[in-house]
Amino acid sequence: MRLRHLPLAGVLLVTTTLGARADDIAERVDRLLKQMTLEEKIGQLNMPSIGKNLSMDAVARGEVGAVLNFFSPESTMPVREAVARSRLKIPVLFGLDVLHGYRTMFPMPLAEAASFDPTLTERTAYWAAIEAKAGGVDLTFAPMADVYRDARWGRGIEGGGEDPLLSAAMTRARVEGFKRGGLGATVKHFAAYGAVEAGRDYASVDMSPGMLRDRYLPPYRAAVEAGVDAVMTSYVTVNGVPTTGSRFLMTDVLRGEWGFDGFVVSDMNAIAEMGTLGVVETGQEAAALAFEAGVDQDMDADHYRAHLADLVRTGKVAMESVDRSAGLVLAAKMRLGLFDAPPFDPAAGAAVIGSPDIRAVARAAARDTFVLLKNTDATLPLAPSVKSIAVIGGLADDRRNPLGQHAASARESETVTVIEGLRARAGSSVSVTHAAGCDAYCRSDDGFAAAIEAARGADVTVLVLGEPRDHAGEGGSRTSLALPGRQRELIAALSKLGKPIVLVLMNGRALALEDIHDQVSSILVTWYPGTEGGNAIADVLFGDAAPSARLPVTFPRTTGQVPLTYNEMPTGRPANDEDRYTSRFVDVASGPLYPFGWGLTYTTFRYQDVEIVNDKLGPEDWLLRVSVDVTNTGEREGRTVAQLYIRDLVASRTRPVRELKAFQPVTLAPGETKRIELAVSAADLGFHLDDGTYMVEPGRFRAFVGDNALATLSATFDVEEGMKLAPKSQSGAHSSGQTAASGAKP
Ligand code: BGC
Repeated sequence: MRLRHLPLAGVLLVTTTLGARADDIAERVDRLLKQMTLEEKIGQLNMPSIGKNLSMDAVARGEVGAVLNFFSPESTMPVREAVARSRLKIPVLFGLDVLHGYRTMFPMPLAEAASFDPTLTERTAYWAAIEAKAGGVDLTFAPMADVYRDARWGRGIEGGGEDPLLSAAMTRARVEGFKRGGLGATVKHFAAYGAVEAGRDYASVDMSPGMLRDRYLPPYRAAVEAGVDAVMTSYVTVNGVPTTGSRFLMTDVLRGEWGFDGFVVSDMNAIAEMGTLGVVETGQEAAALAFEAGVDQDMDADHYRAHLADLVRTGKVAMESVDRSAGLVLAAKMRLGLFDAPPFDPAAGAAVIGSPDIRAVARAAARDTFVLLKNTDATLPLAPSVKSIAVIGGLADDRRNPLGQHAASARESETVTVIEGLRARAGSSVSVTHAAGCDAYCRSDDGFAAAIEAARGADVTVLVLGEPRDHAGEGGSRTSLALPGRQRELIAALSKLGKPIVLVLMNGRALALEDIHDQVSSILVTWYPGTEGGNAIADVLFGDAAPSARLPVTFPRTTGQVPLTYNEMPTGRPANDEDRYTSRFVDVASGPLYPFGWGLTYTTFRYQDVEIVNDKLGPEDWLLRVSVDVTNTGEREGRTVAQLYIRDLVASRTRPVRELKAFQPVTLAPGETKRIELAVSAADLGFHLDDGTYMVEPGRFRAFVGDNALATLSATFDVEEGMKLAPKSQSGAHSSGQTAASGAKP
């Protein structure tokens, strides 16, 4: 078995975007490779985690190209000292999961998707990068671009939610932010990790290739287009093939179709796990399979270090292939400036890391990610007449859970709790009492009586409940979307007092709230809000800022409805709760409790007079433009997010009932009306066949406009001439019809 990799110089010259600098890098890489032994080259392909697979002697021998899980600047020093003892002194790349911050934790990525504001995420990624760089990190294992539709999956909190367009926008912005801050970025987990069966972590994925391309690949592609440095495989199999051994994904799509020029790294130990998956018998076979597929670097399976040299010596792997992969890693290090950086000083970043300026960014970002699901009787913002607040719930005084997952470099002592935030804001004019009721897991009702007493004596109860962070994230799949433990009993008991309850949720996924939402006045979803969460929550509860985020995932009524997403495929028997023989459940009303895109604020908006500016799309005019009047009908300035959904009414295969195609935040003064225009290229209205061909079929479409996925304002338009585009790697790319603006399609 010989590997068919492209020649190194060709790849670097063709695909690196920095012009002359790319040539320099290619030359520099070539020169360096000529000095390296096979073991040193393989070293570049070896990324052990701190622990059993990493020794400083191996670093000093040049057999370690990258490492991960060094959580503090000081901890990186032994590795750097070992590099200094090595023959060629090639810098080691430090990788870390900086998903939403290093020391200052910003909101989790799903929360930031709720802002429907890519500029917010670009900003937090930038500041996360600044801190992480000061902490000695070169490469983050982010963004996570896994679209997910089953809320049971724990890792959805790390990504952009259920919609490919929103997710792609957030992924792109995150890569841009990391890069602006000088941090390398890794998009993961290529591909379709979020589609695991039953939302059970590490389970398998089986779906049509057309669906894979339509729904799951766009966010990864957005990262590649934004110049991401690395791509990480996933743990799962897609249609029977482990992604870590998938030449189709790692080479044909990624390099052939998308022109990716960075390096591919396996997920942690994923190369070894191909043995458990039953596609290889030995470690050597696993190494060969991954390497042949196009995985350049082995994260912590220790298989490339152990087997690649033998594979080369026995002629099973070509030396040029090792050169090429090592060259890609070295080129990434050069682009990130590792070869030219001054010696790292672990103390130098002290003034930056966790600085007040960065915390201010975290506070502002957090309040822009909160979703107000309901707000009966305008309970929020708290009125000046509120003189006493009872703060209840196991997450009210918690420093750990609000930080979310991947917060190993954060300090819990720095978290602003909800109780601290509220007390600081309330000052002396409002009394804030606290009785937890139970801890974050709420397994016992021992504290309920005291909590009820506290609530009885207060004007308003702020009830801070949710999921402890270990109920989400990696390995955090759940069978139930209900609030864990006895939290629902606590809500029921408090609601009997008949006083206003503001339910503040900290949660890592869509929750099923039907059984409790009538028992509270207001529900504010704050996800895991990060270091400044308590202050941001106080800002919003007291009305210093208005919540304006929208759900990036559908909130079902009950767990049994999942997967439940707005962009589902149609059925021949659409749900009708009066008709048994339609697509529904007999024991719950159809549809979500809160749809995708939903979110209230402290004012109200009206959408009216939708118009399609050009209702015949064809070669002369590919841009669909939909305009609508948006009016702030309330008494306070506010922000809404105008959303455009499309349905292809008749096509040769069924199309989703709706797909988000554009969104636009709009801020209006009280009484103000603005005519908003949302636009999308007709080239983006198509779908993929299973062979990768992308088509836009002529015919009639319907556009829906409003502020959530159930928007009813609509109008139709026609695509008069379609297009068909074969995947780049296939011959006869433009087989018929228009290709217009669509060269970018997979
Ligand atoms: C996760 C990745 C992560 C890696 C390194 C794996 O278990 O799946 O998302 O980047 O560990 O921490």
